[in-house]
Amino acid sequence: MTRSPARLVVLVSGSGTNLQALLDACADPSYGAAVVAVGADRGEIEGLARAERAGIATFVHRVKEFESREAWDAALADTVASYEPDVVVLAGFMKLVGATFLERFAGRTVNTHPALSPSFPGMHGPADALAYGVKVTGCTLFVVDAGVDTGPIVAQTAVPVEDDDTTETLHERIKVAERQMLVEAVGRMAREGFTIDDRRVRFGS
Ligand code: GRF
Repeated sequence: MTRSPARLVVLVSGSGTNLQALLDACADPSYGAAVVAVGADRGEIEGLARAERAGIATFVHRVKEFESREAWDAALADTVASYEPDVVVLAGFMKLVGATFLERFAGRTVNTHPALSPSFPGMHGPADALAYGVKVTGCTLFVVDAGVDTGPIVAQTAVPVEDDDTTETLHERIKVAERQMLVEAVGRMAREGFTIDDRRVRFGS
């Protein structure tokens, strides 16, 4: 990272507990990063309210307000770019970003997924892990590429599956680990920089 604090734009679609963990971490100047804007694909969500309470700029781009998915993607990329981010964090953002966005922020967009990649990609990581019967699942932070939860892995944390878990209890346990993983890894990306060599992500320059 060339700038300190590193500038983060965070995209959310829901409750924003991962965003909140980042906001709390950024309150300490030694963390090395600042959330400069929070965007969403829908309005009236707790994620946006958390940003507003923290006095951070917010924006909403709903897919249905645009002529095409491509137009939405281009507008999202333009708005995110206007905040000059060093890293874009997709934190529970329930849309796939498109080619324009990826081209613009290649190698500096990360996403958090509630499963241990490459297992259980997609929207239902905790439910799919439970249905498969695995005894260990977890969370993955990865650099976004054109696939679904396929990009180079920045960090992972394992989480046990308990016999009496429901999708909800398992997802809540994963989210506790996910927030910690996100805060630790994004902080290191901000303070130390990172390199991507084929699929291998390493902190440091
Ligand atoms: C996280 O588990 C994320 O990985 C998943 O949805 C959840 C979002 O939680 N895609 P929150 O909005 O950060 O509370």
